[in-house]
Amino acid sequence: MSVISQDVRSGTKPDRNLALELVRVTESAALAASRWVGRGDKLAADGAAVDAMRLLLDTVPMDGLVVIGEGEKDEAPMLFNGEQIGDGSPPVVDIAVDPLEGTTLTARGFGGALAVIALAERGTMFDPGPCVYMEKMATGPEFADLLTFDRPLGEVIREIGDRKGGGPEDVTLTILDRPRHEETVAEIREVGANIRFITDGDVQAALLAVSEDTGVDLLWGIGGTPEGVLAAAAIKCLGGEIAGRLWPRNDTEREAAIEAGYDLDKTLRSNDLVSGQDVFFAATGVTDGDLLHGVRRLDSGYSTTESLVMRSRSGTVRKIEARHDRAKLREVTGGRYG
Ligand code: FBP
Repeated sequence: MSVISQDVRSGTKPDRNLALELVRVTESAALAASRWVGRGDKLAADGAAVDAMRLLLDTVPMDGLVVIGEGEKDEAPMLFNGEQIGDGSPPVVDIAVDPLEGTTLTARGFGGALAVIALAERGTMFDPGPCVYMEKMATGPEFADLLTFDRPLGEVIREIGDRKGGGPEDVTLTILDRPRHEETVAEIREVGANIRFITDGDVQAALLAVSEDTGVDLLWGIGGTPEGVLAAAAIKCLGGEIAGRLWPRNDTEREAAIEAGYDLDKTLRSNDLVSGQDVFFAATGVTDGDLLHGVRRLDSGYSTTESLVMRSRSGTVRKIEARHDRAKLREVTGGRYG
């Protein structure tokens, strides 16, 4: 006999919220990565986050498959795409992880780095295959219907400005500061909108763009496809919308994507990137950002973390502050972090 009641299976009764277990996973990655803030070694920072995340993931009661991970098995010793994670018990889920979203931000001591994880029903997360980059737009519910790649960005900006009761000069976009964006930046300047450049971290930028009163109306730019899937998972919990279009870097990547069956012209929305209806998302700040405080290592021997914990089915969004006893953490993790 199933231990899960019919009410829970039919979704008419609350059940366990896995995101509350996942936050321990992102907290651990953030705590471990925080030891590397500003030390100029992004690989070490990422490695520490991966190691800590892996340690905690095995304690989560789930049968998880990593769809978005650290890359192919040969290059990633842990959390590689295709790896099975969790203690093997139900639910059967897809997992997207970025133990350290913002490796360079962390290495340089800049704000906005996060540890991130998302879960959804098995088979419901978009597998980017060979497609490293994606052109993305994200915005809140009030402008969600305007997201399209079929019209010039300038027109979309003008319409957002109109809806705000003003003009393009009342619209603010966040954009990754990259040479590949120069042409579009010129177009946006021509229209007269405001731009906030970021050096890295477009998951956080997407979350700010869909949230109210952050001063940002729209995220635009070509960034990581895995980050697009993670942002979509968060947006399914928070509200708002993301639109993405795969962006091969060269002909080899284009051919590999077409051969693997990807439609490069298709606009992928949040429901294409994560089609599941029971999505869990957790993120913990590593360095201070507009979304979350980073890890604070206090002289008292404690560290504090701030995390965002969300579930799409219930729509509950929590911010969780935690205090960690570093000496005890070192003890229980065999000295891995603390
Ligand atoms: P990492 O944490 O892997 O360094 O990624 C940071 C990031 O800025 C993402 O937020 C973004 O999607 C991607 O890199 C952009 O890629 P690139 O730096 O190659 O332009």
